[in-house]
Amino acid sequence: MVKICCIGAGYVGGPTMAVIALKCPSVEVVVVDISAPRIAAWNSDHLPIYEPGLDDVVKECRGRNLFFSTDVEKHVAEADIVFVSVNTPTKTRGLGAGKAADLTYWESAARMIADVSKSDKIVVEKSTVPVKTAEAIEKILTHNSKGINYQILSNPEFLAEGTAIKDLFNPDRVLIGGRETPEGQKAIQALADVYGQWVPKERILATNLWSAELSKLAANAFLAQRISSVNAMSALCEATGADVSQVSYAVGTDTRIGPKFLNASVGYGGSCFQKDILNLVYICECNGLPEVANYWKQVIQINDYQKSRFVNRVVSSMFNTVSGKKIAVLGFAFKKDTGDTRETPAIDVCKGLLGDNARLSIYDPQVNEDQIQRDLTMKKFDWDHPTHLQPMSPTSLKQVSVVWDAYEATKDAHGVCILTEWDEFKGLDFQKIYDNMQKPAFIFDGRNIVNAEKLREIGFIVYSIGKPLDKWLKDMPAVA
Ligand code: UDX
Ligand code: UDX
Ligand code: ADP
Repeated sequence: MVKICCIGAGYVGGPTMAVIALKCPSVEVVVVDISAPRIAAWNSDHLPIYEPGLDDVVKECRGRNLFFSTDVEKHVAEADIVFVSVNTPTKTRGLGAGKAADLTYWESAARMIADVSKSDKIVVEKSTVPVKTAEAIEKILTHNSKGINYQILSNPEFLAEGTAIKDLFNPDRVLIGGRETPEGQKAIQALADVYGQWVPKERILATNLWSAELSKLAANAFLAQRISSVNAMSALCEATGADVSQVSYAVGTDTRIGPKFLNASVGYGGSCFQKDILNLVYICECNGLPEVANYWKQVIQINDYQKSRFVNRVVSSMFNTVSGKKIAVLGFAFKKDTGDTRETPAIDVCKGLLGDNARLSIYDPQVNEDQIQRDLTMKKFDWDHPTHLQPMSPTSLKQVSVVWDAYEATKDAHGVCILTEWDEFKGLDFQKIYDNMQKPAFIFDGRNIVNAEKLREIGFIVYSIGKPLDKWLKDMPAVA
């Protein structure tokens, strides 16, 4: 029986290993983590992450061939294949601060593997890491090898949160990078055999180590670039009277471009895009390629611009001040169907509104008050350092209240900001919301999910990203 151990029971490690266990009954999969509360949650009825379909997969395999444990060393020692899926946040201090990946967690995992191993191992890089990390890990392992043979593979994960199970069941491709030696190729084959139990062979791509590592950064950079491109267009649409949805549709029907990932929004978020582009920028700079670095930096700059443009629009429409006004924020997660708030645009938008002294009432179906308070008081880039490894934030913001209902959030509010595209927001009773708000009542739709015309009929002043503006908004131009 092949034994797999995965270090890191997070958003990537947890769902990925659960699906491997489900699809490969003859493989034993143990997911380990240094966080005891996280492992306890994986072993309970309340999994530590919200992901549609995940509960069913875990229920079916847990205790059969899927286990969650804090006994990191024992399970690493026993495994044939060790996945490393620890967090790789952006460095907050020292060389490369604000750009380079912080590989502390990765390095300590690698040293631990070297310490406890007694048999040959395939070590699989699963977290997104800077190109050439595998080489560094290989050095740590071989310099401490005690005669053990290690093969390093890069097997980046392409799942998106909210659709993780669907993506894992039916991936566009599985990428496995390894050494171009006979041993390296054998290791690639061993991992390909695991995926081959449910993924068609032609979708399992073998590359060299560096190509696999770079492909992950490149894919995320391309995806983010599409969003920044359409968001840049959204600003131009507002200025000219074009409609960004019509433009996106028209552009996306070109088969060379394709229709996906062209939704204008308040900005992209999530743990990957910003971090991976910063990483790419840093790698370019280190390799003497400032022009390439600047090209990719611009994707982040447009994303920041889009968030501040949104805040400016809110403030300028409401007579140039939101001071003391109640603003309802619907949605805080970085996208629907996840409770994850890492790099969510809601953080920057809320901070912007708080900077103008607004009072915020926030509702998200999957994010609790502790998380929101922590996000709004935390320094930039600290977000990706696991919260359970950090002390609770001692301060909480008095101007922020977190409620469990959209109607309560919007009661007596002057304006509503929709920041996550949760399906339930589409079905809200907006007449009821309007009746209970201050007038004039504003809706700023950062995800273009509401029917603006219908809301205008009710009496709302509506802002949608990249759409022709209400007369009101035209008369109150936002300065970006
Ligand atoms: C992303 C990649 O899609 C995935 O392949 C990789 O493994 C990890 O990073 P994720 O961050 O989970 O996945 O979600 P994704 O669906 O890519 O959305 C990222 C952000 O972009 C979200 O904030 C989303 O709302 C935003 N987005 C997405 C848009 O604003 N417009 C779009 O058209 C698509
Ligand atoms: C382009 C648009 O494709 C077309 O829809 C529009 O109507 C006019 O402009 P064209 O300039 O004739 O058409 O050719 P196209 O095939 O787009 O190539 C443009 C340039 O890009 C060429 O120099 C081509 O060699 C280059 N190219 C194209 C690349 O370098 N790499 C590619 O992957 C594709
Ligand atoms: P991702 O989104 O990449 O999965 P997460 O932050 O959700 O990232 O998960 C990473 C997990 O890795 C965390 O639960 C953290 O406790 C765990 N972790 C970090 N370092 C180690 C380590 N040396 N050994 C075991 N687990 C670790």
